[in-house]
Order: sequence, then C-alpha cells, then structure tokens
Amino acid sequence: MAMARKRLVILISGSGSNLQAIIDATRSGSLDADIAGVLSNKAGVLGLQRAEQAGIPTQVLPHHGYASREDYDAALLAAVQQYAPDLVLLAGFMRILTPVFVAPLYGKLLNIHPSLLPKYPGLHTHQRAIDAGDSEAGVTVHFVSAELDAGPIIAQARVPVLPSDTADTLAARVLVQEHRLYPLVARWFCEGRLRCDAQHAWLDNTLLPEHGTSLP
Ligand code: GRF
Repeated sequence: MAMARKRLVILISGSGSNLQAIIDATRSGSLDADIAGVLSNKAGVLGLQRAEQAGIPTQVLPHHGYASREDYDAALLAAVQQYAPDLVLLAGFMRILTPVFVAPLYGKLLNIHPSLLPKYPGLHTHQRAIDAGDSEAGVTVHFVSAELDAGPIIAQARVPVLPSDTADTLAARVLVQEHRLYPLVARWFCEGRLRCDAQHAWLDNTLLPEHGTSLP
C-alpha cells in the first residue's frame, strides 16, 4: 500500500520565495507532499498571492491584539493543527516563537535561516557577515527549538562573499541556495529519512555533525 502523502503547513511573513520553491518542488514531483495550508501573520504579502495562485488554502493571523506572545502562539498553534500537518516549515516567518508553539511541534518544525549558524542568529545576517570580513556565507536549515535560530542543524549550503558584495547582492546569492536546500530537506523529512532528538539531527539513521550536512 502506498504511504499517504505528507501534509505540509508553511508559515510566512513576506515575499515567500522559499514557499514558491517548495510549491514548485511539489509540482515537479521532486517533493512528494501536499501543502495543506499557508499561514501569514501579515496580510497582503506576496507569499499569500503565490499560495492562492497555486490553489493552496491561506490564512492570515495578525499578531496584534494579543495580551502576550504566548497567547498569540496558542492561537497560531491551533490554526496550524487544523491542517493536521506532518511537517511545519517556517519560511521567512518573522516572529520569535515561544515554547507554547514550539514544544508541541518539536521534531516536525523546521526553519530556514540565511547564515551559517551558529553564526549570526537574528536579523541582518548578510551585513554582519560582510562587516566581519567573512569569506563565506550561506544558509542553514534546522529543527526549531525554543531558542531563537537554534535547534539541531540539518544542512547548510555555502556561498562565497565577494569583495564587491552589498547585503543585497549577498542575500541574492544565498537565496539561490535557500531555494535548493529547503525543498531537499523537506523531501528527506517526507521520505522518513530525517528525525531529531533533543540535541542532534539524524539522517538515514546517522547522527549529523553539529553543522549538519553540507550541500555541495
Ligand atoms: C529568507 O532569507 C529566509 O532564510 C529568512 O527570511 C527570508 C524569507 O524570504 N528566514 P522569502 O519570504 O522566502 O522570499
């Protein structure tokens, strides 16, 4: 009997180019999964249009008007759970999440971050890499834990930092790698090849190193 297709939920706040890469992968067949829903904390963003064009149900859950971060996270968790997801992907979701959201989803919640973690968690990663004189930058996909941009690292892809780079030119180079890496890691998960314990990610029953596996 064929295994049921995995159900993905994707959380966005903006342009959704990573969402698009995952949509494209499900369409081309390189990622055998259904995107059950796309949630955004911001209305009117391009990512929502991308989802609608692909016929994916969308939901906007603005973060304003909640008494606490935890209250919002409880509402967000309930919204996500309605889709009964196998895997939840943060794709440019610009909110710090509390354990209220993260703990129940631990092990099936992924994030993509535009730096070679543990370097440069948080914002302005590309400018920080340039300012530090780094010769390479990149992207990390990791399981999400309660700490910001932390949690077991699955994979990274690297790009050179060129002397002429601005934050924008470097971001564009990194994004190309983001669009390769995120659908690939989602595929590993959907194929049942990827899991994590409290500290580490495992691929094909092999413990991955601290920095995850490196994409050539
Ligand atoms: C990406 O750089 C991602 O790594 C970061 O936010 C950005 C989202 O871009 N977390 P997009 O919305 O997928 O185009």
